[in-house]
Amino acid sequence: MAVTSDALRSSKKDLPINSSTEKALEETMLSPRFYTTDFKAIDKISIEVVRKEWNKLMSEFEVDSNIDHFQRPKDMQDNYSKISSDVYDEFVDFLISSITSEFSGCVLYAEIKKRVKNEDMKKLFGYMARDESRHAGFINQWLKDFNIGVDLSFLTKAKKYTFFKPKFIFYATYLSEKIGYARYISIYRQVEKHPEFRFHPIFLWFEKWCNDEFRHGEAFALLMRSDPSLLKGVNLLWIKFFLLAVFATMFVRDHKRPELHKALNLSPTEYDMQVFEITTEISKQVFPVLLDIKNPKFLQNLQKLRSINEELETCANTGIFSLKKIVLGGKMAVCFTKLFFMKSITNKLPEDFRVKPSW
Ligand SMILES: [Fe+2]
Ligand SMILES: [Fe+2]
Repeated sequence: MAVTSDALRSSKKDLPINSSTEKALEETMLSPRFYTTDFKAIDKISIEVVRKEWNKLMSEFEVDSNIDHFQRPKDMQDNYSKISSDVYDEFVDFLISSITSEFSGCVLYAEIKKRVKNEDMKKLFGYMARDESRHAGFINQWLKDFNIGVDLSFLTKAKKYTFFKPKFIFYATYLSEKIGYARYISIYRQVEKHPEFRFHPIFLWFEKWCNDEFRHGEAFALLMRSDPSLLKGVNLLWIKFFLLAVFATMFVRDHKRPELHKALNLSPTEYDMQVFEITTEISKQVFPVLLDIKNPKFLQNLQKLRSINEELETCANTGIFSLKKIVLGGKMAVCFTKLFFMKSITNKLPEDFRVKPSW
């Protein structure tokens, strides 16, 4: 489904780019992607059935409670890159992957705002682009201490764009916003309880930050609740697929950063399971089908997936058609299919579906 728009791409060879921008440009199974969609279909969306909740949410966006939050304070202008060498690379990798996902949201939302005439959509996507651009800019302010900065305008032109129909954007983005909330709040609670593990000041911003992500997720919940056809029939299989794809990607990626988790005194497995629990609880507001994350086979299969991926990475430099790679790719597909066919949980959608960020 990946498309490369020549109009959006400029030649990577013509411009000198730094290694962090290069990293943000990576197109691996685990790296954050940039998306584009069917703008005409978004233009036709009507949210009248959820108008009351919609207006309430829009007034929350309008209040803009985080307007002053994403500023690096004057008394924190020193260099904060002097962190333990064990955790250095993984932390930089974490920051680059975070800035890429924040910016990916920003680019998509800004493009939707620009391309539609529907006033409701224009307003919503404008607010969300505003928030995401603040988030990405804020990470870049700290990355500069490490003598690296991601060139966001270059990224807009050079990264590949994946086309998703609006419904797939809704499932995937709803999940990434809610999972973003769950990740930020879980880390924040950890360093709030144990300040001795707060090895970088950026974690202090996570509490208010995650409220923005939570609100973005609420907007996608409203968009899905405004069109019940998105939440039944064959779409239930798509919802299950996206839940699994998002959870599995996060699990595999987080386990590639053992030192970062050690520095925060978190076990990647426990942390991920907690994030899945929070996300599953929240997504009861909109998904009629949920993954049975408490079934021991769920974690067992994720562990298996992770170890196959590790093996796959050891043969990264062999040819694309190497026998080992094909076998491992097949094993991975079998494991994912097993997870997909595990019995899911049926969820009756609640009448009052707005959720409060209470974790
Ligand atoms: Fe964000
Ligand atoms: Fe967001």
